[in-house]
Amino acid sequence: MEKIVVKGVKELKGEVDISCAKNSILPIIAATILCPEPIVIENAPKLEDVDVICKLLSELNCDVNISNVNNRLTIDTKNIVEMDANTELMRKMRASFLIMGPMLARFGYCKLSLPGGCNIGSRPIDLHLKGFKLLGAEIIMGHGFVEVKAKKMIGSRIYLDFPSVGATENIMMASVFAEGTTIIENAAEEPEIWDLAQFLNKMGAKVKGAGFGKITIEGITSLKGTSYRPICDRIEAGTFMIAAAITNSKLKINGVNEEHLRPVIEKLKECGVKFSEYINNSVIVDGRSIKKPLDIKTLPYPGFPTDMQAQMMSLLSIVEGVSVITETVFENRFMHVAELQRMGANIKIDGRTAIIEGAPKLTGCEVRATDLRAGAALILGGLVAEGETEISDIYHIDRGYVKIEEKFRKLGAEIYRINV
Ligand code: EPZ
Repeated sequence: MEKIVVKGVKELKGEVDISCAKNSILPIIAATILCPEPIVIENAPKLEDVDVICKLLSELNCDVNISNVNNRLTIDTKNIVEMDANTELMRKMRASFLIMGPMLARFGYCKLSLPGGCNIGSRPIDLHLKGFKLLGAEIIMGHGFVEVKAKKMIGSRIYLDFPSVGATENIMMASVFAEGTTIIENAAEEPEIWDLAQFLNKMGAKVKGAGFGKITIEGITSLKGTSYRPICDRIEAGTFMIAAAITNSKLKINGVNEEHLRPVIEKLKECGVKFSEYINNSVIVDGRSIKKPLDIKTLPYPGFPTDMQAQMMSLLSIVEGVSVITETVFENRFMHVAELQRMGANIKIDGRTAIIEGAPKLTGCEVRATDLRAGAALILGGLVAEGETEISDIYHIDRGYVKIEEKFRKLGAEIYRINV
């Protein structure tokens, strides 16, 4: 079993390059199902989750190739077969469910195993299915699977009770060939939604308003092959911003879209971190200051991202004073608290609220990554903890961070991967 070992306390220095956004490239790879011509995706990150969705497409008889030279991913779905992807891969990653919308649009049929819940919550799909139904699909729920079929997809107005990222993406893709106009109201506004719409439009789709609460899709008949470079990963960038803050370091981060990170940057500024020299998608982050406690509530974009909640908690664990974090997006996203408490953090949970009393220090020990972002939070804690922190279940981390220990080692951290 692999573990990551981090030796604190280390100041970091230098610069880090941010990889392509995991939560952009996954729906974009799913969207290639809509187009029978070859698609080239530039700068594809070497991530476990990208491997899983590419293997899923290969299982559906698509040609999927990645060149090691420049991480160029080529996908040709010309010979894709209609089959129920009731595979282990479906259960391995919730985002596999994003192939349902494009499969329904292309074949008028799709049968998938239900995406499992995961450590952060039950992860329902009711909003996805509500959209498919309003577009004219028949929904058949089985034991552990769901089947959707439609002779014809008709444009419709769909209101999302919650601005679900996945449901917005799945419905957007399902409606590309629908007859007439589809309107998604209360749609998710995350930058990855905008990125997917940019990709769809580059293939010839007619999507307007993505990134804002109301998205309009004019149905068209076919799409053309194209090439596309997804946006950089705002959550990875935010993780390294917090690394600068927690280690009192000054770092240059390359691949940052200030707008996409506005809620994180504003909260870190409130905490005492300084940002300068926004030039060519790079920024200097200076964490060498006394930090102040914060009151944070996670919200759908443009609010503070739930995917940055655990990382921020690591920082606030050693900020003098009382901080409060309220998690409003997922019902069970405090699994990292017990691990941080093992390191000496003083955190109390009251329902969806965590009250964090800054501890004078953290102490390294054996901890377990409980989900992708919790794993990143434990690395951040390890950077500032006295002694060694040994993190297990790091497969969670590899799902969403490209060579994270190498990137941190380049910044001067004492961090390495071991096999035990
Ligand atoms: C996406 O998950 C991201 N994953 C998550 O990132 C991210 O945390 C989440 O959006 C919120 O920003 C990918 O993009 C691959 P949601 P998704 O549907 O689409 C409820 C990471 O660490 N909901 O917006 O699954 C649901 O229960 C991962 O990179 C319904 O009620 O998130 C949850 O409470 C973790 N019914 C809330 O919406 C539905 O049909 C947010 O879920 C769908 C969702």
